[in-house]
Amino acid sequence: MKQSWKNILAAGICGLSILAAGAQNAVNAQVKFDTTEAINRLVSQMTLEEKVNMLHASSSFTSGAVPRLGITEMVMSDGPHGVRPEHGRDWNLDNNIPDSSTYLPTGVCLAATWNPQLGYAFGNVLGSEAAYRGKNVILGPGINIIRTALNGRNFEYQSEDPYLISKMAVGYIKGVQDQGVSACVKHYAANNQEILRHTIDVHMSERALREIYLPGFKAAVQEANVNTLMSSYNKFRGQWASQNNYLLNQVLKKEWGFKGIVISDWDAVTSTTQPMWNGLDIEMGTDLHMLPNPNYSKFFMADTVVALVKSGKLPEYLVNEKVRRILYVMYRSNMIGGKKNAGSFNTKEHQQTAAKIAEEGMVLLKNENNFLPFNKSKIKSIAVIGFNAERKQSMGGGSSQIRAFYEITPLEGIKNIAGNKIKINYAPGYKIERGAKADEAMIAQAVAAAKKSDVVVFVGGWTHGFKYNVWTDNAYDAEDYDKPDMNMPFGQDELIKAVLKANPKTVVVLIGGGAIDMREWLAETPSVLQAWYPGMEGGNALAKILFGDVNPSGKLPMSFPKKLADEPAHALGQYPGDSTYVYYLEDIYVGYRYYDTYHVEPQFPFGHGLSYTSFDYSNLIISAKGKTADVSFTIKNTGKVAGADVAELYVKQSGATLPRPEKELKGFEKVFLQPGEQKTVTIHLNEDAFSYYNDIINEWVMEHGQFIIMLGSSSRSIKLTGNIQL
Ligand code: BGC
Repeated sequence: MKQSWKNILAAGICGLSILAAGAQNAVNAQVKFDTTEAINRLVSQMTLEEKVNMLHASSSFTSGAVPRLGITEMVMSDGPHGVRPEHGRDWNLDNNIPDSSTYLPTGVCLAATWNPQLGYAFGNVLGSEAAYRGKNVILGPGINIIRTALNGRNFEYQSEDPYLISKMAVGYIKGVQDQGVSACVKHYAANNQEILRHTIDVHMSERALREIYLPGFKAAVQEANVNTLMSSYNKFRGQWASQNNYLLNQVLKKEWGFKGIVISDWDAVTSTTQPMWNGLDIEMGTDLHMLPNPNYSKFFMADTVVALVKSGKLPEYLVNEKVRRILYVMYRSNMIGGKKNAGSFNTKEHQQTAAKIAEEGMVLLKNENNFLPFNKSKIKSIAVIGFNAERKQSMGGGSSQIRAFYEITPLEGIKNIAGNKIKINYAPGYKIERGAKADEAMIAQAVAAAKKSDVVVFVGGWTHGFKYNVWTDNAYDAEDYDKPDMNMPFGQDELIKAVLKANPKTVVVLIGGGAIDMREWLAETPSVLQAWYPGMEGGNALAKILFGDVNPSGKLPMSFPKKLADEPAHALGQYPGDSTYVYYLEDIYVGYRYYDTYHVEPQFPFGHGLSYTSFDYSNLIISAKGKTADVSFTIKNTGKVAGADVAELYVKQSGATLPRPEKELKGFEKVFLQPGEQKTVTIHLNEDAFSYYNDIINEWVMEHGQFIIMLGSSSRSIKLTGNIQL
């Protein structure tokens, strides 16, 4: 275990050259400089105590400084979809600082856009606002695989599919880092449930790890050059992720060549020598129970390290190597030797980016007989029903909470677009209270509103359910909690059924981080729209979609099962495991890889999403070149309004040595078309698109043979199919 360290050092951060990027380019115009010497000089000037001071927190969200040498604290902030409110050095929420910021749609909504350019735009807003607020590291993106619909943090994460995650995360990270702020991809690795996250030991095959759970992190390192990475709370194969030799030293640093910093999740570190040897660079958040005054010098990687080095029990080069990594990131993000980007805050452009992501991320799941969009000139009254219509979500969910500069609720958005000509009859319909049954009086009020209105917009689903430091029973999409089941909470099934009976012209709008059991009312409901947590402009985006000012183009980034028992983690695997151990027995068959291979019908398949227009696919041409192929096709908008479809490219190999899934996403392109317009698109497939991880020989392999290429507008709506021999 320890011998490998020397190789890591050799392969690691020696001889680094840095190219200042993005917004920094304006300042440093492509200055290429070698920082190795400067870093060595700084390290040689530091005392052991000063170096160790950089390896652990110095307050709630900073790590230690060496003021004598001009090295400042590294200032970090959550989180994935906005810059978190200021918690002060002692964690107290500071209510006097103007920290209300741009509240972007959450990660799952971003992924549902299937638009990597929006990933970049999202990261740019975040990086720019973080820079403005004096942050050096933004703690996002969160990219853990959506393995079960119950995971309380699915709303922060992105997808069940590693390829989609990789594409979106790379854009996001580049967007943040081009603003001179470091991104922190998290939580590495196998943090796929919140329940038991502090104790669980996750086991899975090497193949599942390589094919499903790691590719997003690998892309973050190798394609996006992410500066920092957060290790997760859980154990992986018996060793805590924050001191996991295999994950951190072997895979991340040695195999992938990660040059940046591994930061622990807050309060995840439990010992000194193991994280010191096994790849952790900065320890954060320890002793949270000592709030508001943790003793930072008593952290595991603080005074104890100094004592161990002085007594010869720990080599000083371990400390030096970590300090070098930190300094490297400091140079890369202009914390040393460069000009900081001033950033910007709450600009109109930032709000427009939030709006665009919400508009492109909402997914029209069902639209019978073109029930939507509403015709403004024909509708005189709308019943808006459901508490989520007026509920602000930004401060919920846990560490990703945002104090939003403003937040347009669905009700406000609908009112904004309806103007004075359309009457809005609002009824909350239910209370947010765990275990609450349908309230007769509230249902009666909702039914009355539905009866007297031309159409009904029901806005319900999940809720974030807790505010900072107020851990309530109502946490559904929330950190540290998983959902108890997939059923609609707060008696909403009864409510929707009563509303549908009173007025069948009802669209159900679902707020939340993922799938909910819709079987009670889906068949009778003409339209269903998945709105996620759509950020500060979400209400406006929703209303524009309802009225057809925006043509929906979002696609599900995960499969929606009919019921929980259908999900692979629940049908084949273990969840949540016993208190110490969970085995991912479903292996690589996560999401559609399972539904399609095992012939289980989902409620709505991965990649599904409807439009107000229609698209035609033709002219599939596949040309193989060595181990790669180019796939071209023509897509035409055959309807009457402008719109976008995501052309999804799936690959299947039959007859490989090991079984392979029925299909796997290996390319996609979001194509915007005017009515009647057509475009020819070419998607390049490299060797990775055809390879799989053979865990008998522990290698990625591309086995020659026949591959089926499927092009579709969802994983279950395949429009064109072809074969190639490679
Ligand atoms: C979360 C991280 C977060 C950190 C700091 C932890 O509880 O898991 O995602 O970045 O807290 O707030």
